Amino acid sequence: MIEVKNFTKKYGDFTAVDDLSLSIGTGEIFGFIGPNGAGKSTTIRFLATLLRPTSGEGRICGHSVVQDPMAVRRVIGFMPDDFGVYDGMKVWEFLDFFAVAYEIPRVQRKQIIGKVLELLDLTKKRDDYVNGLSKGMKQRLCLAKTLVHDPPVLILDEPASGLDPRARLEMKALLTTLGEMDKTILVSSHILSELADFCTMIGIIERGKMLASGTINEIQRKIQSHRVLKIDIAGEDLDSAAQLLRSNPHVRSVERFDQTLTCEFSGEDSDKSRLLGALIAQGVPVSSFAEQELSLEEVFMMITNGVVS
Ligand SMILES: Nc1ncnc2c1ncn2[C@@H]1O[C@H](COP(=O)(O)OP(=O)(O)O)[C@@H](O)[C@H]1O
Ligand SMILES: [Mg+2]
Repeated sequence: MIEVKNFTKKYGDFTAVDDLSLSIGTGEIFGFIGPNGAGKSTTIRFLATLLRPTSGEGRICGHSVVQDPMAVRRVIGFMPDDFGVYDGMKVWEFLDFFAVAYEIPRVQRKQIIGKVLELLDLTKKRDDYVNGLSKGMKQRLCLAKTLVHDPPVLILDEPASGLDPRARLEMKALLTTLGEMDKTILVSSHILSELADFCTMIGIIERGKMLASGTINEIQRKIQSHRVLKIDIAGEDLDSAAQLLRSNPHVRSVERFDQTLTCEFSGEDSDKSRLLGALIAQGVPVSSFAEQELSLEEVFMMITNGVVS
């Protein structure tokens, strides 16, 4: 759905984005995470057809962002990081303005605007002036305007930045709803936890380079040599179980705490199931055998600390 190949953008001698590639499938919610200045907005503006690449290419729904920007604009809703909302315009007029720009016929506009206002919980603000809205509502209104032409792809540059905690939560809930509506979403943030709950994929960018991207599982698999297994044993004899674990070539270390053995494991899934089989075959009373899931935070720390490349 969204495809970037070897995108590089230089400003003079300075390379803002360096050979970045990514691939986002239909219906995915891709969290584009990186500190300020990493190159998120540069990449996003390229995809939104607002910035020419130094080299590389991008495609959205099969359309080239360089060769066919008009086709791309029809299939994306773009929310920039620094939108201007026009003074002296009412909420419905603001949305109508964009609906006209997208050439939506007059007879459909009223109904579409009503729907979008409803979705973003702005119905009561329909006749309010835009410049009188709170920051959170302005941000919602900007999201509303990306939806008037019902695009399959949304590209949102830090939609939650500058919002208070409540408005951030509301924005999160909205993005989750949009995900459930089968939109393909690329959303950026410099705050990891903001995206962790609802993204199906992440990409981590730092100083213009994509450090890792893929589904959370794919990235976890990459750091497979750091898998941790937690094995609970019923009964007294944990030592023989620990000994059996240590003799396995994929087990690096074993620690005991209460009834739990924690081991560092470097094998594949098939090695993992063989390990469990061996324990059971030896009569070890395993009451629980689970891989410790790394949180997105832990994955992020490992990648940005250079543990994984
Ligand atoms: N028009 C420009 N001219 C020169 N440098 C720029 C320009 N736009 C962005 N940059 C630089 O490119 C880098 C990436 O910026 P940006 O893509 O906005 O990062 P992010 O959105 O991740 O905060 C930054 O160092 C920024 O200062
Ligand atoms: Mg930015």
